[in-house]
Amino acid sequence: MIETRDLTKMYGELYALNRLNLKLDQGDVYGFIGPNGAGKTTTMRILATLLNPSWGEATVCGYSIYNSSRDIRKLIGYMPDFFGVYDDMKVSEYLEFFAAAYRIQGLDRKKKCDEVLELVDLGYKRDALVTSLSRGMTQRLGLARVLLHDPMVLLLDEPASGLDPRARIDMRALLKRLRSMGKTILVSSHILPELADICNKIGIIERGQLLFDGDVETAIKQVRQNTVIHVGVEINRLKEASGFLKTMEGVFSIEERDNADYLRVTLAHDFKDGSFIAEALVRAGYKLKTLHEEEVNLEDVFMGITKGITN
Ligand SMILES: Nc1ncnc2c1ncn2[C@@H]1O[C@H](COP(=O)(O)OP(=O)(O)O)[C@@H](O)[C@H]1O
Ligand SMILES: [Mg+2]
Repeated sequence: MIETRDLTKMYGELYALNRLNLKLDQGDVYGFIGPNGAGKTTTMRILATLLNPSWGEATVCGYSIYNSSRDIRKLIGYMPDFFGVYDDMKVSEYLEFFAAAYRIQGLDRKKKCDEVLELVDLGYKRDALVTSLSRGMTQRLGLARVLLHDPMVLLLDEPASGLDPRARIDMRALLKRLRSMGKTILVSSHILPELADICNKIGIIERGQLLFDGDVETAIKQVRQNTVIHVGVEINRLKEASGFLKTMEGVFSIEERDNADYLRVTLAHDFKDGSFIAEALVRAGYKLKTLHEEEVNLEDVFMGITKGITN
């Protein structure tokens, strides 16, 4: 649905994008993640046919950005990172204005506007002034606007930026809804955890270069070389257990944290499963209180990849 080949954009000497290769299949929700200035907006604007690359190719639904911008614009919904709303306009008027621009006529127009307002949960605000909406609602209205012509492909540039936690959750729920409608979505963020659980693929971009492209699981594996397990036994025997486990094959290192009721056990490289620890402890007469794999902090994964810390 979206493909770029060696897509490059230069501003003077600066490579805003440097040989970017992206591929999204139908129904993909692709999280495009990178710090400010990485090239996310540049990519979206090129795909939306609003900006020409310096070289390289990009196609949307098979159409080239170079000679089929009209076809592409019908198929995509592009929500920029910043968009203006007009003063003195009601929510319903705002949408009808854009529906008219998309040449949606007559009865269809009102029906379509109502439909997208329901979709983004703003039906109850149809008569409110757009200037009275919160940032979260304004973002949802922006999304409603790009859904009017029922595009197959959505390009959403940092839709959750500047939102409070509640509005972020609403936005994520909305993206999930769009995903279940089968839309192909390219969505950007500078925060990996924000997108990790709604995307089936992610790309991590920095200084115009794609540093990682794949699924979230693979990203985690690439950064975390060893599995970390939290192991808890009787609190007064923690130290003893630490000495016992240290000698085991499969244990790489053990950290005893101050005031913690567990040991932080890092497994050796080829060991992924900590069940052998449970067995050994129980056989040695310890009471096993906890045993679970430490959650991976996605922010660490992001930092690891952007710093080039990989296997
Ligand atoms: N019109 C422009 N003129 C010069 N440099 C630009 C222009 N637009 C973007 N850039 C530069 O290109 C790089 C990528 O920007 P952008 O795509 O906006 O990044 P992101 O959206 O990931 O924050 C940045 O270094 C930015 O300063
Ligand atoms: Mg941007």
